[in-house]
Amino acid sequence: MRKNIVAGNWKMNKTLPEGLALAKEIDNAVKGENLNCEIVIGTPFIHLASVADALSSGKIAVAAQNCADKISGAYTGEVSAAQVKSTGAEYVILGHSERREYYHETSEILNAKVALTLENQLIPIYCCGEPKQVREANTQNAYVKRQLDETVFNLSEVDFAKLVIAYEPIWAIGTGLTATTEQAQEMLAYIRSLIVEKFGKQIAENTSILYGGSCNAKNAPELFAQPDIDGGLIGGASLKCDDFVQIVKAF
Ligand code: 13P
Repeated sequence: MRKNIVAGNWKMNKTLPEGLALAKEIDNAVKGENLNCEIVIGTPFIHLASVADALSSGKIAVAAQNCADKISGAYTGEVSAAQVKSTGAEYVILGHSERREYYHETSEILNAKVALTLENQLIPIYCCGEPKQVREANTQNAYVKRQLDETVFNLSEVDFAKLVIAYEPIWAIGTGLTATTEQAQEMLAYIRSLIVEKFGKQIAENTSILYGGSCNAKNAPELFAQPDIDGGLIGGASLKCDDFVQIVKAF
């Protein structure tokens, strides 16, 4: 059985004291609750160790939003997968469209990051998704298939089975323009069908696939009720405890 996951991506928001306070607030709010999903919070690197230490509900895992494509050494400003692991984090968000666009992350770079993440027993939350002009041309399936073909579809079955996939159409990120429930379900079902082709039915059935892009407390219940939507990757709405916890409880 695949897991339901609600993952927050804080992006470059919150100072350390602010982030720590938010993490504790969420932790307290879910303590003792009977939840139908795992909660992940994706913080900036500087928060990881403090947040991982502060959580006590046993219901929240911590994610980095990136890691280096090199093992260690003279790479000023980079943070390795092993360093992320040493903070107590369990996940790494990889291939976010903001990193692909602003930091020129190619499939080759992402392959190295996925491999290092897995080698360090961290779970990649691997993002894919098309820009607006691709959706307008109705070629989003081919676009997303290529993103997966060039990267995570090259993994062994054993490694692919460890991944979480997140589909985030770029035109829906931070725009308030959510994909319709039908569009999201259709793409996630398509991604699952590609996984069936590549790795077989059992791995496909066990892979958690998340939707991201203006997901909020209002639209989460309908999105999460879809058969192929196993949760959300939440940006803006993960920065307020009440909003985020409401999304968590949409399952
Ligand atoms: P928003 O929820 O702010 O649209 O961001 C989505 C996202 O990019 C999460 O990774």
